[in-house]
Amino acid sequence: MHESAWMPTGLDPDVPSAARVYDYFLGGYHNLAVDREFAHRAQKTMPDLPLVLRTSRRFLRRAVLYLLDQGITQFLDLGSGIPTAGNVHEIAHAAAPRSRVVYVDRDSVAIAHAALMLENNDHAAALRADLRQPREVLHSDVVTGLLDLSKPVAVLMSAVLHFVESDAEAQSIVAGYRNAIAPGSYMMISQGTQETEGGQVERVIRLYDETDSPFTPRDRERFTRLFKGLELVEPGVVYVPLWRPESPEDVDEHPELSCAYGAIGRKPLY
Ligand SMILES: C[S@@+](CC[C@H](N)C(=O)[O-])C[C@H]1O[C@@H](n2cnc3c(N)ncnc32)[C@H](O)[C@@H]1O
Repeated sequence: MHESAWMPTGLDPDVPSAARVYDYFLGGYHNLAVDREFAHRAQKTMPDLPLVLRTSRRFLRRAVLYLLDQGITQFLDLGSGIPTAGNVHEIAHAAAPRSRVVYVDRDSVAIAHAALMLENNDHAAALRADLRQPREVLHSDVVTGLLDLSKPVAVLMSAVLHFVESDAEAQSIVAGYRNAIAPGSYMMISQGTQETEGGQVERVIRLYDETDSPFTPRDRERFTRLFKGLELVEPGVVYVPLWRPESPEDVDEHPELSCAYGAIGRKPLY
């Protein structure tokens, strides 16, 4: 498809977008020359990057399936990205056709494309908003129209909080959602770390400074603090391939090469 068919007007075509770079790595076509050129440089710096992103996406899938198993049928996917294979509503609707999903992203290409894909879908919708404003997101017509926040929901923050630089801000964002959701709700968070590898992530981070979304990795301790006030579900905070792997495809002998931590926390009933 020619890019004029999906590119919203008013975007700077010279600045790579984190959402479109991710789309390119996952095999999508909603990206520009500037994004592909950036992706090639990032992959040169970190040859395993496409694998890292696919591993992260597989964790998202397992997390959604786990949440469905717990009886959750409402999903708020924050920083959802450009829709690609294995979107949350596809996973959820296959298992529980009446589940409801709201996608939130600040990237106009991601939301324009999600809205198009969901045009005839009464059970899923997309909202262009900044996840750093929990009140605005939670009180938006899109969210209140589709999700019943008085009942348990799952808030997903997959591969997005590394785009929030300050720990205090990241913690207060998570708290904003945690305080608003019903007891028995879940929060899934994954994000990049540079704890164990040999400097590649550091170089990729410097590259991401050129995009619309600079990157802040967190070590295990800083990541774990995001789950304050939530009960961690087994196996707790782990490298994403180690979170309830389903098949040998999900985990190899070096899970730390995923460069990402993930976990799910549950808001206590009392
Ligand atoms: C790496 S992608 C992750 C996509 C998807 N969650 C996944 O795990 O496959 C990160 C997405 O977060 C979005 N994003 C970054 N900061 C955001 C913010 N403050 N508010 C909303 N979306 C944000 C980006 O636009 C991008 O689409």
